[in-house]
Amino acid sequence: MTEPRSAIGRSVDRYDGRAKVTGQARYAADNTLPDLAYAVVVQSTAAGGAVTHIDTAAAESSPGVLAVLTHANADRMFDIPKDLFTGEVPGDEVAPLQSGRIRHDGQHVAVVVADTLERAVHGAELVAVSHIPDEPSSELGAVPPFPAPDSFYFGSRLNAVDGDPATALAAAPIRLDLEYRTPIEHHNPMEPHGVVAAWDGDDLTLFDTTQHVIGSRNVVARRLGIARECVRIVSPFVGGGFGAKTFPWSHVALAALAARRVGRPVKLVLTRKQLFTSTGHRPATVQRLAVGADRDGALVALRHHVTTHTSLTDSYCEPAALVTRYLYACPNIAISHDIARLNLPAPLPMRGPGEAPGVFALESALDELAHRAGVDPVALRHRNHADVHPVSGKPFSCKRLRECYDLGAELIGWNERSPVPGTMADGNFLVGYGMATATYPANTAPCSARISLTADGEVAVASAVHDIGTGTATIMAQLVAELLGVRPEAVTVVLGDSDLPEGAMASGSKTTASVGAAIEAAVARLRAEVVRVLTASGGSPADLAEQRIPLGDIVRLSGRRKIAVEGRSELLTGTIADNLGVGGPVELNSFGAQYCKVRVDRDLGEVRVTDFVSVHDVGRVVNPKLATNQVYGGVVFGLGMALTEETILDERSGRFVTRDLATYHVPTNPDVPSITVRFIDEPDLSANSFGVKGVGEISAIGVPAAIANAVFHATGVRFRELPITPDRVLARLRDARPGPGADRS
Ligand code: MOS
Repeated sequence: MTEPRSAIGRSVDRYDGRAKVTGQARYAADNTLPDLAYAVVVQSTAAGGAVTHIDTAAAESSPGVLAVLTHANADRMFDIPKDLFTGEVPGDEVAPLQSGRIRHDGQHVAVVVADTLERAVHGAELVAVSHIPDEPSSELGAVPPFPAPDSFYFGSRLNAVDGDPATALAAAPIRLDLEYRTPIEHHNPMEPHGVVAAWDGDDLTLFDTTQHVIGSRNVVARRLGIARECVRIVSPFVGGGFGAKTFPWSHVALAALAARRVGRPVKLVLTRKQLFTSTGHRPATVQRLAVGADRDGALVALRHHVTTHTSLTDSYCEPAALVTRYLYACPNIAISHDIARLNLPAPLPMRGPGEAPGVFALESALDELAHRAGVDPVALRHRNHADVHPVSGKPFSCKRLRECYDLGAELIGWNERSPVPGTMADGNFLVGYGMATATYPANTAPCSARISLTADGEVAVASAVHDIGTGTATIMAQLVAELLGVRPEAVTVVLGDSDLPEGAMASGSKTTASVGAAIEAAVARLRAEVVRVLTASGGSPADLAEQRIPLGDIVRLSGRRKIAVEGRSELLTGTIADNLGVGGPVELNSFGAQYCKVRVDRDLGEVRVTDFVSVHDVGRVVNPKLATNQVYGGVVFGLGMALTEETILDERSGRFVTRDLATYHVPTNPDVPSITVRFIDEPDLSANSFGVKGVGEISAIGVPAAIANAVFHATGVRFRELPITPDRVLARLRDARPGPGADRS
């Protein structure tokens, strides 16, 4: 086992690429079982009140219908309070079909099971729900918000004052008091949530689509009141999650319940429309930012207050101000979050929860400060660069952010622009450049992995982690190959199954670091085992080191068919570790600088991003092709957040108006510019021994502010509310028609 150190840093092709493009990859709803039945949910059409009666007679006598489950006849299921630390987090705290109480629009009130999907759909249409609606409170501002409990977001301090921001603000030569708004957004992964539930006696198997097979198993077991050991979640392929599949939603347990009722396996797939009410969303934020600075733009105070919302039952808080506590050197910082309980479905993390809306506000405000102080926006970032964490005082493990700024500026042609806003017209288009900082914690969670060797020399690695389109399987093969000195293509990877060694949730951009540490632990054990076998049969470890003996031969020497070992890493870094006080002597974060060029159509109000540059310090890059793809995806997330994505709420009824991809606009190919991606690629060995920090969400974080800042530079008009849609642009341009150079914010 020599270490050629060659498997890392290579653009190895995606492990499952061929299976996916040839249609061989079997996603959750692709599973069919003998005697399969189909379930369709019936949802409430009001956001509050109580169901008084459900008439199921017509549905029950409809051809092919096997059962209709309602709160009147459903088996007992259990409520589960959300506690992010346990990993047993349900999407909905309250178990479905246990009472007639309605808490949000689209709540599941019945499930119809039939022998075909069509008959189930028809049966669902025949269910008549009578209910007394009450006046829902669904709008931010409709009910008084309260301070978010500090404990909720993985123990993060959501309300904190460091220094004396009030005094510093009062004395600051430059003061800004700004309000930014972000709307409700929906994840909209390509693959909708769907599950196939099958019982074998007391044992339940769920073919699901999830970012967390272990958490899902534990939640389903608790919800149904059965032992964990009786539940298996199988989820080898996931067609995107973006956070919506981190916690299991009510339909998963409902499918299990339905399958038990009819004594057949049951498939339950939510429609695109149902996803909008049944699988979470990013809540809206109103963010008040007070900025105090010296005349040269050096920050003296930051106060970031967030108002957001959650559901009637839980305490999820979009932690948008957390980032303000570490992004810049500033001696006086206050952050606070208020949440309101509304008649809305439960929110949950989405594509950079907290950082994405928070950095939009903070990095827009920094741009406003730059213009007010008359300092170049990039120079302003350099001036306020945090060499150490401004609150903890700890050094950052590795922070090459300054290089990100400079490389990005060079690649976009920052210095070729006219610095004065509204002065770069090209015919009918107003042209502008914008930039913003990106950052994300370098998270790692405990994780296990098993490595096995066969006498034929086959190497396999298995862990209950997930490939949600990120390339996890490929990365695992590369890491194993690196440590064992074999080719990545020769490593078999198994993941996405709760019966495998316990893996980490695919969230918080932490899978590579987490499973990497587990693989390393497993390889260390494998080495010890191999050396033991070798020594026992008269060989020497040197034979191994010099590759005089193939790995398969060692298995044969052992007299076994295979040698399998399991390794576990308890490595915990990032947000959770910091909050538990086990974060160590350095701050672990990824960083980046994002730049763009936009063209704003004067007549149509359309913003077109024509060039995008994303430069990141994310530690070591295991697979440049996959990492670059991650950044492409992240930039597109950010592009959607900046320009198109918005869920419209009808405040009177508490219902989402936007319920499909025709009305909820995600960017498509013509919206996506050429994206230039660069990595600093320096291993951060404080993070883990591979030096990786995770490259998922960070690439979305700076995008909305970079675009909004570019739109300001193009037009001289400041947009403090997302998304920046043509109607908003036209209205604001019409309001402000003065000559170029004026600051019309
Ligand atoms: Mo992600 S929003 O951490 O699944």
